[in-house]
Amino acid sequence: CMDVSIPDKFGKIQFIVEDCKDPLKITLQYDSSLIEENIQIVVHSTNYDNHINTFFFPGFIDTHIHASQYPNCGILGNDSTLLDWLNKYTFPTEAALSHLPYAEKVYDKVVSRTLANGTTTATYFTTIDLEASKIMAKTCVMHGQRALIGKVCMDSNSPDYYIETCKESVSSLVEFVDYIENELCEPLIQPIVTPRFAPSCSRNLMEKIGNLAKDKSLHIQTHLSENFNEINWVKELFPECESYTDVYNKYGLLNHRTILAHSIHLTAEEIDLIKLKQSGIAHCPISNTSLTSGECPIKQMYTDGIEKIGLGTDVSAGYSCSILESAKAAFSVSRHLAIKKENQDAKLSVNECLYLATMGGAKVLDMEKQIGSFEIGKSFDCQEIDLRSPTSTIDIFEWQVPTLSGTKPKITQLNKLEAFDINDVISKWFFNADDRNVVKVWVNGHNVKN
Ligand code: GUN
Ligand code: FE
Repeated sequence: CMDVSIPDKFGKIQFIVEDCKDPLKITLQYDSSLIEENIQIVVHSTNYDNHINTFFFPGFIDTHIHASQYPNCGILGNDSTLLDWLNKYTFPTEAALSHLPYAEKVYDKVVSRTLANGTTTATYFTTIDLEASKIMAKTCVMHGQRALIGKVCMDSNSPDYYIETCKESVSSLVEFVDYIENELCEPLIQPIVTPRFAPSCSRNLMEKIGNLAKDKSLHIQTHLSENFNEINWVKELFPECESYTDVYNKYGLLNHRTILAHSIHLTAEEIDLIKLKQSGIAHCPISNTSLTSGECPIKQMYTDGIEKIGLGTDVSAGYSCSILESAKAAFSVSRHLAIKKENQDAKLSVNECLYLATMGGAKVLDMEKQIGSFEIGKSFDCQEIDLRSPTSTIDIFEWQVPTLSGTKPKITQLNKLEAFDINDVISKWFFNADDRNVVKVWVNGHNVKN
């Protein structure tokens, strides 16, 4: 066995031993054949009765978040839908970040709040502003978060006060990539090519930045098929393309490093194209509900053969920067689909939602060999959960967890409690916890939150 205490600094996970009582690795089985992998928790401490006090869980992965929109969390108007929300709330908010001292404050806040909620890796959109985007990269380094950071590219159909020319967009992207790769030189931070969405980009811009992504093997992120007005607009703007997805394909942006946010209203042909190109999907359920964009059929996507699906908070169309909140929303949205379609197969289980929040995200980022679960050789990206947080609503103290001690279940006076097992503990955590229960966070073995 090995030391239970987690030192401040160690790059690779080595502490997992299956038969070791403390720490004890527990593998959670999915109750679905669609997702084959398991997720694990590692029990860190128990009380005298062998009830779980604290456990380690893989750090959450946010595959789609607009750092620049953080000031707008919770403000989106009662009747906003995507396109009017962008004009009324989002573009003015993003434009304001060209004032660098303000950008510094906003970015510092969003990185510390996501870390506090257990997000160890995030895929960010910033704004079109190069200098502010550099500040975001520095902020992630300072806090120790693993991040893909995208300076937003947009040269079309955008307000006068928030638009670039194609040339400006490409040159500031090139400079941003160069800054991260050659000046910042921090292996945890990668640049990501970020055409906002098809309506904000000319064909020329998409082709140019697609080529840059290809030459430098960079990831690409954008939005896809979020809202019907948006889809119709894309049809008008790109009549030469067979579908919204085909726009990205035709102009060189669709490949195995592409992250497509939303992707709610896809046709069978679009699904096939995404499968063929092995692109990933960032499911953003809070945002999709808040802007009444739609209910993304995640279980159906798995059935259709799309394997790379993760979760995105989509701050600030999503009101919360917590991936745990997004995971709960994914659970709820899948149940609404099940009700509407009268099909129980649409439902995501708690463990499946936690998979999306961790390994699913790692696959979307093509980082499943590095992060997303506890495996020897992977980086130690981890959150320590304490179920006892005095101010939280979790009250798990009196529970018997028969599988934990490795010995026979203790007989308790309250017979019904004997039925609880590790999945119930996880479920209790999933539905009742918040950042108060995240007591420590590590990224790449470094303790980044105490
Ligand atoms: N589509 C284009 N831009 C955005 C954005 O900022 N948020 C969301 N949710 N969708 C978009
Ligand atoms: Fe978004």
